[in-house]
Parts: sequence; structure tokens; C-alpha cells
Amino acid sequence: MQAIVLEDGGVFLREVEQPSCDTGMAVVRVHAAALNHRDVFICDGKYPGIATPCILGADCSGTVVECEDRSWIGKSVVVNPGTQWGNHEDYHSSEYEILGMPVDGTFAEFLHIPISSLIEKPQHLSFEEAAALPLAGLTAWHALFSKAKLQTGERVLITGAGGGVSSIALSLALSAGCEVFTTSSKPEQRQYWVQRGVRDAYDYRDETWIQHLRDLGGVQVVLDSSGGNQLNDILGLLQRGGRLAVYGMTNGNPKPFDVFKLFWKQITVYGTKMGSDKDFKDMIEFVSRHEIRPQVDSVMAMADFEQAFQRMRDSRQTGKIVLQVHK
Ligand SMILES: NC(=O)c1ccc[n+]([C@@H]2O[C@H](COP(=O)([O-])OP(=O)(O)OC[C@H]3O[C@@H](n4cnc5c(N)ncnc54)[C@H](OP(=O)(O)O)[C@@H]3O)[C@@H](O)[C@H]2O)c1
Repeated sequence: MQAIVLEDGGVFLREVEQPSCDTGMAVVRVHAAALNHRDVFICDGKYPGIATPCILGADCSGTVVECEDRSWIGKSVVVNPGTQWGNHEDYHSSEYEILGMPVDGTFAEFLHIPISSLIEKPQHLSFEEAAALPLAGLTAWHALFSKAKLQTGERVLITGAGGGVSSIALSLALSAGCEVFTTSSKPEQRQYWVQRGVRDAYDYRDETWIQHLRDLGGVQVVLDSSGGNQLNDILGLLQRGGRLAVYGMTNGNPKPFDVFKLFWKQITVYGTKMGSDKDFKDMIEFVSRHEIRPQVDSVMAMADFEQAFQRMRDSRQTGKIVLQVHK
């Protein structure tokens, strides 16, 4: 089969052996796979514990073609990108692994995966939309609802609307009946989300946005992966007793971090990463119930993966970049 393989010398489209099915496992014929920023960080050597060779990719949708539990065969599925979360809902075990390094991932024609990682594809989604959901949806769900305990009617700021996780987080928060604010460098993305019910969308490169949102009374919850010095301004936007959920630091660490605002306003900070098996099930169930559609930026052929990776590196995407694997 064909697969996108990380090797010591780079990333290549290779002919590799097709997996066969072991006990407790299934083989999924991959229809579509989606990129996450993690894949780019791994390719660029900016991720801890890089091990080669490895098939990249954490997200996919497809059809089960082999499985010892025959009731799965022929079913359309999405796959939980994480395995061995462990017993604590709040944080994962030391055995936790994410598909696409160190374990072989989804950028391949076939995926060998534990049966416990399978969940039926929401019926309202195409394979391309469904592939865009798992990692970003899981991360957004765990951060907003399991960690920050976001409630209906609360005010939430989700930064960087063009990002994969942010775009699905926006849909989840809107469907949960929250008052939602966002930021984006992209005018079309700001317009898109305001049309979908976001109260205000700001250009984070124009520093006056902070004052604007402060004048509106600030927010109770912030979801952020941009980091950098702007995080100190964002602390200033949180109301007393506010909650900040942080899942990345695209712009590095804030220097210095404003500890005063933390204790003066009694802010709780949640460091958050991926989510449990229960989170994954709950997220898929919520997406099905509310017929949420992940925002798909583009669908490209697997052979065009370099273009897809570059698009993400250049931050040109609005939502998720999807690779078409099988039609
Ligand atoms: N902890 C976890 O479990 C977890 C899971 C997934 C991702 N992550 C991390 O989270 C980050 C985002 O991942 P992703 O896959 O969603 O990446 P992505 O699709 O590449 O999104 C990154 C987005 O960051 C936004 N951004 C850049 N500078 C910003 C700023 N100053 N203020 C606000 N937003 C800014 C941009 O938004 P605009 O395009 O709107 O300008 C960009 O689209 C990465 O660092 C990734 O490693 C962590």
C-alpha cells in the first residue's frame, strides 16, 4: 500500500507492506485523513521523542475491512487518535500514544488499529468532514467541557479561528449555547464565524481588540493555543474567577508571565492535551446530535502532501486540511 512515511532523511510517499489483522485489532480502509499541526512539527523536528521510520497522521475516516468482531466489517468509522489514556479522566497515563508517531498513523491506504479505537462515523458527515474531526474535536471537547467546564450561556473567547482545533471548538461552544468571541488574522474567517453566530471576531494583529472586548465586560473562559506575550493581555480579559484552558504555544512562552493577574482575579489555568476515550465518545455523540460539520479548508490528493504540509506551515488554512486517500 502507499503511505506517507517519516524517515531520517525527510518525508516520502512510499510503497509499504499492507497490515494484516491481529487479535483485538481491526484494519480500516482509509478514505480520508486530515492534517494536524503536530504532523508539521514532527516533520520539522520540533516534536519530542521523534522515532523513525513511521507512517504519519493522527486523523482518518474509513471502512472496516478486517476485524475479529465481524459486526464491524463494512461499517463506516472514525478513529480515536489516542490509545491507552488510562484511568484518570483529567490526564493520560505514561503509556498514552498518539497515532502518527511513534505508532504508525493514518496517512496510508490501510490502518491497523485496536477495535476499542473505532467509533461509527456520524451519518450527517461525508468521509472528508469526518476525517477532520477526531484529534481537533477531542482536544477542543476535553479542554472546553471536561477541563474548563464551560456552561450554557457563559462567555468564551476562542483565539485563532483559522486553526483546526479552534474552528471545531467554535462550533462546539456555539452549539452548547455559549456567547462566543474569537480572533483571527483572516478577514474571511472572521466574517464566516460572525455569520454562524459568533458575537464578535477580532483581528489579533490590531491591539485595540483587547480594549474592545474589555469594554464589553470580558469573558469567563478562554481557550488558547497561540501563547506568546498576548497571553498576558488575555488574562486581563478574564473576569474574576475566570478559567483559561491552554493547549499549545504557537508563539512561544509569554515573557514574563503575569502572575499578578492570576491570583488577583483568582483565575484557574488548565493545561490540556487530547482527551479520554469517554471524551471522544461524548464529542462524537454531541457532534451527531447537533449535526456539527467541521470546517474543511481543502481536500488534496495524498500525493500532494508536501503542498498540504506547506499550507499549514504558512498558516494559510481556514479549518482542516484533508488528504483524499481512497475515493
Ligand atoms: N494539547 C493538545 O492536545 C493539542 C492538540 C492539537 C493541537 N495542539 C497545538 O495547538 C496548536 C494549534 O494546533 P492546530 O492543529 O489547531 O493548528 P493550526 O490549524 O495550524 O492553527 C494555528 C492557528 O493559530 C492561530 N494563531 C497564530 N498566531 C496567533 C495569535 N497571535 N493569536 C491568536 N491566534 C493565533 C492562527 O489563526 P488564524 O489563522 O485565525 O490567524 C492559526 O490558524 C499547535 O501548537 C498544536 O501543536 C495541541
